[in-house]
Amino acid sequence: MSEEALRSVDLRKTYESRGAPPVEALSGVSMEVHRGERVALLGRNGAGKTTFLRIASTLLRPSSGAVEVFGIDVTRSPERARPYIAVVPQEGKPFFHLTPREQIYTYLRARGFARETARYRTEESLERMGLTPFADRLSVTLSGGQRQRTMVATVIATEAPLLFLDEPTIGMDPFARREVWASLRALTQKGSTILLTTHYLDEAEVLSNRLYIIEHGQVLSSGTADELKRSVGGTLKVLVPDGASQVDRFRSYGTCVTDGLSLTVIVNPNTLNEVMEVVGRAGMTATVGPVTLEEAFLRAVGRSINED
Ligand SMILES: Nc1ncnc2c1ncn2[C@@H]1O[C@H](COP(=O)(O)OP(=O)(O)OP(=O)(O)O)[C@@H](O)[C@H]1O
Ligand SMILES: [Mg+2]
Repeated sequence: MSEEALRSVDLRKTYESRGAPPVEALSGVSMEVHRGERVALLGRNGAGKTTFLRIASTLLRPSSGAVEVFGIDVTRSPERARPYIAVVPQEGKPFFHLTPREQIYTYLRARGFARETARYRTEESLERMGLTPFADRLSVTLSGGQRQRTMVATVIATEAPLLFLDEPTIGMDPFARREVWASLRALTQKGSTILLTTHYLDEAEVLSNRLYIIEHGQVLSSGTADELKRSVGGTLKVLVPDGASQVDRFRSYGTCVTDGLSLTVIVNPNTLNEVMEVVGRAGMTATVGPVTLEEAFLRAVGRSINED
């Protein structure tokens, strides 16, 4: 097996549908995920994250380019790649007529695990995801967050070498999200590799070793969260809620990004006082905080990840 858990080269996908113009969802995505890494794809709605994950996990064919999983070309040899991967699809649901315990156990058996191992892994995964109290209820009776936990628990239980998770914590409460993060960390400590997508900047920052910012089917920026934050060009952000129209007054102090009506000025501590004086003279107010991934995202994409 090759060194990388995943490698894509110039991956492209155009969706063709009759009666509608073609949609170019991926426009040449090249990336690597090293073994044992947790990597996040961060991008707005429609950026191409799910398309990438579906191709990489053998569920969809690319228009051109290649993806290898542990050196196996997933388009040419999907059946060879599948034993190495497990997937939580976006908006996946557990089987309604199975309980979480049955669902996890059945899936592990279908993947070829012996009864004893499947039983043990099922209990461990139910416990880890806080599902024990609901383990014997039909999935149809579970809440949305409990169903999503069941999906994640099913895939975590496989301990597959490479896990794809498409928005794994969507709809979960903060406690459940932390359980997922801890479980995914534990898995990579055991040797698995993880590629996930998320809209949550805190999740991307806490969970991933590296991230790729994607927009319009292209990688705009990549690196560790710290590297991306350093690339913003300052350590503090001054958020002026109504400042967009006054952007020219601030340009000489640091990088300015407008987002709707608001203006964010990225500054270093030594220019903060001057910037706050400009804010005051303009009769506006501002809040100051440390630079976060949000600013790295804004700088790379030009728009906020949360904006419609
Ligand atoms: N089956 C399809 N047929 C036509 N267009 C599609 C199809 N699936 C996705 N698309 C389009 O491809 C683009 C990328 O979609 P994709 O689902 O990969 O985005 P995403 O980054 O996962 O978005 P989200 O954050 O909303 O899940 C979008 O413009 C979408 O409308
Ligand atoms: Mg998606």
